[in-house]
Amino acid sequence: MKRKTTDIKDDVVWHSTRVSPDERERLSVQKPLTIWLTGLSASGKSTLAFALEKFFVENGRSAFVLDGDNVRHGLCKDLGFTAQDRSENIRRVAEVANLMNDAGVMVMVACISPSSADRDNAKSIIGEERFLEVYLSTPLSVCEQLDPKGLYRKARAGQIPHFTGVSAPYEVPAAPALKLDASELSVADCLQEILSKVAI
Ligand code: ADX
Repeated sequence: MKRKTTDIKDDVVWHSTRVSPDERERLSVQKPLTIWLTGLSASGKSTLAFALEKFFVENGRSAFVLDGDNVRHGLCKDLGFTAQDRSENIRRVAEVANLMNDAGVMVMVACISPSSADRDNAKSIIGEERFLEVYLSTPLSVCEQLDPKGLYRKARAGQIPHFTGVSAPYEVPAAPALKLDASELSVADCLQEILSKVAI
């Protein structure tokens, strides 16, 4: 198990599975990956994540989207948007992605995940070998003009605190596996770019 024992509380004991990763892989038609989509609100993360999910399922792969807005309706509904809450949001999403990958499912994460340190933490939870970081580099001016949920307008009016790109920072990934600008590429183009990096 790649779990670090130092993370585990003294009175909580890890139960080991009797199914090896090789045995699981023989059952599965795919090598499970987490495609981690990071970028500003309205940069195209969710659209791409759900397009990937549809593609994988139509091609006989099990796949699931962990979308920032959606997980904040349940798993992370107690969290807000301070740096500390975002770190916890990303940690929980990464832990779930890791479990889903262990279970053989392809995972697409669509979270702003603005902090490099939090994304690095996600990578170490999931494992470098199955973590694909995709940076949606759609410029702030375009995201703000699209503003599909009217949130940038509210943020500029001071009605939403800590809004990424307006009153909270976004740290650009230093070395993503892919950088895609959704204002220059179609969804189909972005999909192709990502699929060229994935063995399905
Ligand atoms: S993250 O920073 O913790 O990764 P996450 O992706 O889960 O963010 O949630 C972002 C979504 O929450 C945005 O798409 C937007 O709809 C909504 N939202 C509400 N308040 C904020 C805020 N202050 N900053 C960014 N997004 C916000």
